[in-house]
Amino acid sequence: MNTKVVLQRGDDGFLEFEGEEQETVLHICAEKGETLGARCYTGNCMGCLIEVLEGEKNLSDPDQKESEILKRIPRPGKIYRLACQSRLKSGKVRIKKP
Ligand code: FES
Repeated sequence: MNTKVVLQRGDDGFLEFEGEEQETVLHICAEKGETLGARCYTGNCMGCLIEVLEGEKNLSDPDQKESEILKRIPRPGKIYRLACQSRLKSGKVRIKKP
């Protein structure tokens, strides 16, 4: 089943990237040239930090390492993930760069 990442850009603009189940959000976007600020691709640099606007339930749960990193981010009312560690299980996710 195909999955989709919608990258919000500004108030009205967005880009859509199609992928496959279990691909990381970063992989889906990077295949089309959008690297989301990624540097390490291993969950260490935080360059690929994304804010999840919709579809959080469609992402894999953060593992222990990602959870530890995300605890450092003040996030009242917002959901942040590392795109290189978040796998899209199914459906669609809408994200933006914070
Ligand atoms: S690319 Fe470095 S944490 Fe994701």
